[in-house]
Amino acid sequence: MKTADKQDPDAPADCPVYSTGVTGEGYVYDGCRNVLSPGWSRRGFIETLGLTGATLAAAPLASMLLPGSALAGSAVEDFRFAILADSHTMGKKNNPMKVRLEAAIRQINAMNPAPDFVMYLGDAITDGTIDEFKYFEDIIAGLKPKTYYLAGEHDWYLDMGEYYMQHMIQRARPYYSFDHKGAHIMALHGSNLNDFWSSRKLSPQERMKVAGDINDPAQGTFALGRAQLDWMEKDLATVPRNAPILIFSHVPLYQYYKPWNFWTQDADQAHAILKPFSNVQVFHAHVHQLVEHQIANMKFCGILSTSWPHPYPESYHTLGLSGQMPRPNPARLFDGLGWHIARVEGSGKVSHEDILWTLKPPES
Ligand SMILES: [Fe+2]
Ligand SMILES: [Fe+2]
Repeated sequence: MKTADKQDPDAPADCPVYSTGVTGEGYVYDGCRNVLSPGWSRRGFIETLGLTGATLAAAPLASMLLPGSALAGSAVEDFRFAILADSHTMGKKNNPMKVRLEAAIRQINAMNPAPDFVMYLGDAITDGTIDEFKYFEDIIAGLKPKTYYLAGEHDWYLDMGEYYMQHMIQRARPYYSFDHKGAHIMALHGSNLNDFWSSRKLSPQERMKVAGDINDPAQGTFALGRAQLDWMEKDLATVPRNAPILIFSHVPLYQYYKPWNFWTQDADQAHAILKPFSNVQVFHAHVHQLVEHQIANMKFCGILSTSWPHPYPESYHTLGLSGQMPRPNPARLFDGLGWHIARVEGSGKVSHEDILWTLKPPES
């Protein structure tokens, strides 16, 4: 077992390789369970963060990666941002995916006033290859606002996040937070899977195929993991209880439908951490459908895809969910697809507008 070169003093005792960043061997760890990016060098990590050797030596790595929130006493200012997800571009073999993503980019760029930022909630590509990533990057380069990324399973399970971490997330961890105009924003890494591949001796391509197939039970269920839950608790420690908290996760942060892995195994533990806060809005991708839910003080919104819509699972009505996606017509390029604009008002109210292309297809 490889050991972390920086141990987090708050690491749980049962988590022997809990790391705040990169091991001496150049491995990045996600909490105590997953090697994120074998081969990503310590030098690359430091350059990504814009750190020099001197600053690295002067400050504990954990403190640089866990800045905490300075929201106390901050007034909330009105702002808007865009949410985009599940573009699943596949390279030249599937041009409609490119056309749809470009349509969303054109619409976001035309927003007036411009959004403060864009949150991209994962599944940028489909098979995880570098060629696919480069194809996606060429398209997304046309998006003007600053864009924050989190990963979906399709971005991750060919190379265990190596390319996506370096080129899209560009942070030490796949989960992070920041404050913006009085709101606290948390990007979670919801697409963690336990190791289903080693004992089966699966190749990276086979691993990607299992993880990317929502019907394959071999993948198990998604989970945040103990280390990420501990980070959430610590991250929220200084956030005022009434502050708008915007949470982003690829996977629904509740248990929606297990047979398709619309499921976060340890969601109840995240809910317990969020329980003291009165204004929590979660946006998630992965389900490729409009779906709204509320559990106690937490509101959930499923984000439209720009690739294809999934049907509603049979649990949709039994969970008491609301909202309805018009039945998409596969002959129409933009049906059942779209993206979102979210707004935080000075009062703290959080709302979202669903740009559903079924009702108004984009100019093409
Ligand atoms: Fe997806
Ligand atoms: Fe997904």
